Amino acid sequence: MATNALELSGIEAFYGDSHVLHAVTFACGPARLLGLLGRNGAGKSTCMNVTVGLLAPRRGDIFVFGHRVTGLPPEQIAARGVALVPQGRRIFKSLTVRENLVVAARAPTDGRPASWTLETVFAMFPRLGERVNHIAAYLSGGEQQMLAIGRALMGNPRVLLMDEPSEGLAPQIVHEVMNTIRKLKESGLSIVLVEQNPTLVFDVADDIVILNSGRVAVVSTPAKLKQENVDLRQHLGVF
Ligand SMILES: Nc1ncnc2c1ncn2[C@@H]1O[C@H](COP(=O)(O)OP(=O)(O)OP(=O)(O)O)[C@@H](O)[C@H]1O
Ligand SMILES: [Mg+2]
Repeated sequence: MATNALELSGIEAFYGDSHVLHAVTFACGPARLLGLLGRNGAGKSTCMNVTVGLLAPRRGDIFVFGHRVTGLPPEQIAARGVALVPQGRRIFKSLTVRENLVVAARAPTDGRPASWTLETVFAMFPRLGERVNHIAAYLSGGEQQMLAIGRALMGNPRVLLMDEPSEGLAPQIVHEVMNTIRKLKESGLSIVLVEQNPTLVFDVADDIVILNSGRVAVVSTPAKLKQENVDLRQHLGVF
């Protein structure tokens, strides 16, 4: 069996005394797209924070292409080829588009050629190319999201984590973002896409994991969930 791109195994995570993730275990295969669903507060972002080294799990392990990265600082996990598009975008608002991208540039450490450069990011997102010297604060919400994705790509990741990239965007822009995600998947990236809206994720995901109160409640595929007519409302609320 091929090595998983990303594996979380038995993760227990806390904020202070608050126990937020309970034995969380899931895996994203190479060049696959895993949709991570769950309602507000289910623990989705905490899974992302644990994966990129922003929060050390109290127990459990994280593997990136078979290498254990548990407890490593974020910089070293990034060097293993993991990049996060954080919830709320978190771009540098006072910097230009170019500056936001350049500060995130990282050559692959495993000998792969750097497929993501300013040129290839602008080919993917022409609007960013047109606004290369604009201050990020003055971009539209959709453009800021594209910049956040572009910034993650500049790290030339093998595993891309995206935390609610559709949040706060108009439907037409969400459609564009989802098309971009589809292209990235076709390019061979392994992707974890965090969303609250299952219909968005079911369209692009190979695999689905649903978190409920910090526990993995469902591991399946969009096709199986549809076929079994699983009632997702108990895990996801009204959508
Ligand atoms: N920095 C923090 N300190 C303390 N508790 C936190 C912190 N961040 C999140 N939590 C709590 O941890 C739990 C999981 O939060 P998390 O942000 O992982 O959820 P989420 O699934 O990403 O939710 P959302 O869809 O709203 O982004 C929630 O109960 C939340 O209140
Ligand atoms: Mg979140």
